[in-house]
Amino acid sequence: MIRKKRVLLVFGTRPEAIKMCPLVNELKRRSDKFDTTVVVTGQHREMLDQVLRVFNVKPDYDLAIMRPGQTLFDVTSDVLLRLKAILENEKPDVVLVHGDTSTSFAAALACFYLQIPIGHVEAGLRTHDIYSPWPEEFNRQAVDIISEYYFAPTEKSKQNLIDEGKSTQKIWVTGNTGIDALRTTVCGTYSHPELDWANGSRLILITAHRRENLGEPMHRMFRAIRRVMEEHPDTKAIYPIHMNPLVRKAAHEELDGFERLHIIDPLEVLDFHNFMAASYLILTDSGGIQEEAPGLGKPVLVMRDTTERPEGIEAGTLKLVGTKEDVIYREFSRLLSDETEYATMSNASNPYGDGHASEYIANVLENR
Ligand code: UD1
Ligand code: UDP
Repeated sequence: MIRKKRVLLVFGTRPEAIKMCPLVNELKRRSDKFDTTVVVTGQHREMLDQVLRVFNVKPDYDLAIMRPGQTLFDVTSDVLLRLKAILENEKPDVVLVHGDTSTSFAAALACFYLQIPIGHVEAGLRTHDIYSPWPEEFNRQAVDIISEYYFAPTEKSKQNLIDEGKSTQKIWVTGNTGIDALRTTVCGTYSHPELDWANGSRLILITAHRRENLGEPMHRMFRAIRRVMEEHPDTKAIYPIHMNPLVRKAAHEELDGFERLHIIDPLEVLDFHNFMAASYLILTDSGGIQEEAPGLGKPVLVMRDTTERPEGIEAGTLKLVGTKEDVIYREFSRLLSDETEYATMSNASNPYGDGHASEYIANVLENR
């Protein structure tokens, strides 16, 4: 009898969960081939649990590390120390981590110390600026140094890995598993009271959370958004806000009292994708949203100085606007006023695969 492969997945934040749960479910569907174990670190709590519920994924282990105001030291050391016994007990053939969070970095480091092969889902993204985004660029580069399987979403991310000397034998271009979810969520008959409220106006969708933008950059973003919207009475904004209390404080300080902007709790992913589909444009510093928006043809002003997602820039959907108040003000105003610019940015394209990335990854693991 052929022994089943023991695959253990580790993730802990909302975006990792959104992109790993489709893979968990694909591996579980192939239960004759894989023994699948799910470890969540709980780097996020409410925002992680929301996703687990949607995808009906029940973790085998929950490290429950989240604490208010957690530092990078807290996350990294808690994951590293608490994972050791689980890995020693489970003895997986391969551990899959995702992307660039501190959960992923610490989990990969734990595997390296125990000499367990690592599969990196969403490998090869680069800005080449180690402080931007911070600490994510370091995390993803570090995971790629010690990985055995590279699941690159695009040819560009594959090339980044090759340029760093990684063996082509270990790289597979699979598309992004985030698109697997998007394929099933957006629906023409979707409705929601917040969308009813915004009906008849141009809907601006906002998110922001990057660590390097906490503090003054975030205040500048919010001030610019409010200034532009005050000049455009035909706009309404919905801002499903991250649970980070520092983000919430800045947002409430700058945006409270402005009635055409609703700050609401984080949306479930099905809702969020449908809000994206209903929006006129999106303002964000998120990574995952930069991948989802091109598929929906929604213009995105990316409030960051760098991006590891050049495919969306080339597709024309994304524009980097940094975090300076005047630049955001200028670019946001222009996109609302200039119909040609808006039309150019609204072309739908699909640089991140065909929505079957999880199957391709499972195929690779099955056949190796
Ligand atoms: C983390 C990742 C970032 C990813 C982001 C996605 C790192 C270093 N950062 O950043 O790469 O883009 O997740 O959102 O890995 N909180 C809650 N409930 C939650 C989630 C967060 O209360 O469900 C609060 C807690 O007070 C926590 C704080 O938010 O201390 C910050 O969370 P943390 O995971 O450290 O940072 P993020 O900015 O979310
Ligand atoms: N998202 C969500 N609910 C929200 C906001 C975002 O489900 O209220 C989804 C979004 O569709 C994308 C992911 O969360 O798939 C992005 O997560 P986040 O911006 O927190 O992290 P990043 O992608 O920047 O690491």
